[in-house]
Amino acid sequence: MSLSCSVATRYPSVYPLRRSSCAAVLSAGCHPTTGYSAQLFVPEVVKAVDSLYSDFRQIDNLVAHNATRVLKAFQNARVGSHHFGGSTGYGHDEGGGREALDNIFAEVFGAEAAIVRSQFFSGTHAITCALFAILRPGDELLAVAGAPYDTLEEVIGIRNSPRIGSLKDFGVSYREVPLSIDGGLNWDALANAVTPQTKCSFIQRSCGYAWRKSLSILEIQRAIEIIKMQNPDCMVIVDNCYGEFVEAYEPPMVGADLIAGSLIKNPGGTIAPCGGYVAGRKSLVEMAAARLSAPGLGVDCGSTPGDVMRLLFQGLFLSPQMVGEAIKGGLLIAEVMASKGLKVQPLPRHPRHDTVQAVQLGCRERLIAFCEAVQRSSHIGSFIKPTAGCTPGYASEVIFADGTFIDGSTSELSCDGPLREPFTVFCQGGTHWTQWAFVLGKVLETI
Ligand SMILES: Cc1ncc(COP(=O)(O)O)c(C=O)c1O
Repeated sequence: MSLSCSVATRYPSVYPLRRSSCAAVLSAGCHPTTGYSAQLFVPEVVKAVDSLYSDFRQIDNLVAHNATRVLKAFQNARVGSHHFGGSTGYGHDEGGGREALDNIFAEVFGAEAAIVRSQFFSGTHAITCALFAILRPGDELLAVAGAPYDTLEEVIGIRNSPRIGSLKDFGVSYREVPLSIDGGLNWDALANAVTPQTKCSFIQRSCGYAWRKSLSILEIQRAIEIIKMQNPDCMVIVDNCYGEFVEAYEPPMVGADLIAGSLIKNPGGTIAPCGGYVAGRKSLVEMAAARLSAPGLGVDCGSTPGDVMRLLFQGLFLSPQMVGEAIKGGLLIAEVMASKGLKVQPLPRHPRHDTVQAVQLGCRERLIAFCEAVQRSSHIGSFIKPTAGCTPGYASEVIFADGTFIDGSTSELSCDGPLREPFTVFCQGGTHWTQWAFVLGKVLETI
């Protein structure tokens, strides 16, 4: 018997239902041949899905491209199961996994070097190590895409907080180039913003908690060229949170000196339980490593338990696919919410530059109701009612719906937002777009 014949015999493409069971499923509202529920999604969602098939196909191509890049990097690093052993204590007797993972991240991001560690406990922490690596007393930091993400305010020292060691406390000054009226980069202002004192320019790729456009790689490239034209010695750091694998290129490939991000966002593929990374020019990565650990210890120490080590590799392997699903979820949210007259950013079917989909809800009650509906539809903690409250690092009250396996993992299905005008919910993640297709039905019922 040929192989194809045996496969066909064992796995019929459609499982025919017996007539008696057919009647049972029809009465239960199921499709007669597949047995699926006839109304998996609400009509608004079905209509949106139908209109998005070619967009979804394009996302699949992006996934294939980025998955191939990741595969090559794994092969070049000759990854084997011996790399998953992890280490304890100082991590001096590490079996090569730490270095292999650093090399893979560096290759995938087009960087000279990378440091990927479970000891970075958030994106804010990784970005902070990158900033403190470069900046010294008397230097100036210039944010070129408007105000940075909320949790960086205390890092920079632009919120009235106790003197706990912000850049400002160490004598680093700060300026910001406001965004243009359309929410994009203000190119005219940027053309004259960099001075000889500007040691470092900071570009936030994703929108954060602002009603602004996320930046494409081409825009980041243009911004870097404009910055370096004014001061070739000015370093460029990119906050890469939510941007990884959303396009075919990454910021170091277009001139960024350093990037930083979190493994419980895109590059952790929904399964990395913790960690972050800094990647870029080798000398700068070593300086960031000295901030994470201590000067002199650098990249060559730090233990990671074996079970975590394997998940960091496996998470990166899954990441392009998970990012693709998150983008599809975002496209669906935009389509459905815009059809109900709500303002969305990015607009339906517009190119994506991060995995975040913002929806303006206009009032506190709706924002809370949206988050409650998402939490109720989650696998974990569906019985929990999220409440707005104070969170370390944030000046505003914030509400989070994160019914996730990993605490705060926004590459899993989640949404959140600060309780301030214009009461915007920021949605992200999802391991398959059908998660959002289901949740959107619940959201529509609620709001
Ligand atoms: C653009 C951006 N940068 C940085 C951060 C901070 O990341 P973390 O919450 O991991 O500290 C966030 C968080 O959502 C973000 O959206």
